[in-house]
Amino acid sequence: MNMINLRLDELPNDTAENLQKNLTYTYQEVWERRSSIRTRPSKLIDFTKMGYFFPESKQPLLLHPEIINKGEDIKYEILLQSFKKYLIDIITLEIKMIDSACRMIIEDDLPVYYDDQVKLNANTVMIDEYYHVYIARSMLHQINQHFLGLKSFSYPISDASHAVYKLQSSLDKEYCKMFHIIAVCIFETTLVRELIDFFNAEDIHPCIKHYVNDHMNDEAKHYGFFYDLLCYTWNNLSEDFKNVIGQCLAEFIKLYLHIDSDKLFYQKLCESYVEDKDKSIQIVNDLYKGFVISPDIPIVKNVMNVLKKSNITSHNATKSGFAKIGWNI
Ligand SMILES: [Fe+2]
Ligand SMILES: [Fe+2]
Repeated sequence: MNMINLRLDELPNDTAENLQKNLTYTYQEVWERRSSIRTRPSKLIDFTKMGYFFPESKQPLLLHPEIINKGEDIKYEILLQSFKKYLIDIITLEIKMIDSACRMIIEDDLPVYYDDQVKLNANTVMIDEYYHVYIARSMLHQINQHFLGLKSFSYPISDASHAVYKLQSSLDKEYCKMFHIIAVCIFETTLVRELIDFFNAEDIHPCIKHYVNDHMNDEAKHYGFFYDLLCYTWNNLSEDFKNVIGQCLAEFIKLYLHIDSDKLFYQKLCESYVEDKDKSIQIVNDLYKGFVISPDIPIVKNVMNVLKKSNITSHNATKSGFAKIGWNI
């Protein structure tokens, strides 16, 4: 945990001079010294060691009596399946969303100018994300080789990807790339410290703990880069782009932080144990009864803080978008 805090402490503060300096220099230099791909050995899971593959407190199915009664082996398997879903989400999000935003910054002729150093920084992020995907695939392969006969599932599209596609479908084409870059800046600054704490719990398998900490070592650096990139991008957008993109951010945040994808996966997972579709839908609905995305939820607060600090919420278009969904920002 200290390692993560250390990296977060290194994040640049956001004065205008620092913003420019960090965006044009620091990231590449820090990446050369400290990125996981430059400094860490390969990740092999030692299956002789004890421990769960996913934090129990992040798997709501384990709160339901019907599932609790199924015993320890099923609990272990549910957590293993939850970890597989976590890896699949990394593979899809980091390749499809983050890589494509970095590629746009590097290659495309955009309405916001990004200099060569920013492009190099974006290149380091692309390398990191491909490395993270490689590690995630390697972990999946090791798990599938070790636990022969483990049930496989079709994984629903993540809420993050769904939110980008849905909003882009409502925008004129000329705004889509800048919206995509801003959306990715928001994803990469939603660093969930709570999740890191959960994975550092006593009963988590030591290799999984180690893996998540290494991944977050890079993601803490990405947080700094994308926060500065978000501030720079927003400041340099024309009023026309701010009006269009600002207006749709509220809807985007709400969809992005939704849990439809998780719920759908939990239903399928649950069904494989209770062998009754209606019953599994009922179990998941019971667990989420009364849950709505609102500004009081910690992860929503994290995202809103980033939008506030980067001045995005002070724009009238953003304000009116949030007013439309009934959020007072
Ligand atoms: Fe990553
Ligand atoms: Fe990242």
